[in-house]
Amino acid sequence: MSRISVFAVFVIVLASCNPSNKPGRSVKFQQYFVEGEQLYTLHCSNCHQKSGKGLGLLYPPLDESDYMQENLSDVICLIKNGSSGGLVVNGNKYNQSMPGIPTLTDLEIAEIATFIYNSWTHDQGIIEIQQVTKMLQECNTGS
Ligand code: HEC
Repeated sequence: MSRISVFAVFVIVLASCNPSNKPGRSVKFQQYFVEGEQLYTLHCSNCHQKSGKGLGLLYPPLDESDYMQENLSDVICLIKNGSSGGLVVNGNKYNQSMPGIPTLTDLEIAEIATFIYNSWTHDQGIIEIQQVTKMLQECNTGS
């Protein structure tokens, strides 16, 4: 019993000390967001930048992206499988290829998605692992 309450206090302290803390969000959200931020720094920020602003017409922005708003399932698929088809973000055409990361687990993809969909201009709430698993099953891996 006391071990559980010590753990609970630890989690609450951890969540409230976190600079990325979003008030009113669940502990699960905070965990996804923090893990997602680390994965983003490791795998994505080279191209899309820490600021999410991308790089000119080479790498599209994530901070303000109509593509992200309209294509959640395509974004989930492209994190895993990459993209080389070319796409349009905020009226600008991008046509470099993005390497996928097939070794990411569904949980890691949910964490990355939760981070990018709740950073900068986005405020979408948690992206659950169950949603990710379902979307990944429906990816068109040919493109
Ligand atoms: C090597 C550079 C590179 C890396 C690393 C990279 N991307 Fe991309 N990303 C691109 C390019 C280039 C495109 C456009 C692809 C196309 O034209 O088909 C893109 C497209 C996107 C899009 C859709 C367009 C938009 O701006 O909304 C999202 C979302 C995205 N990337 C997220 C990520 C995430 C999350 C990661 C890390 C898991 C990541 N990218 C890693 C280069 C990269």
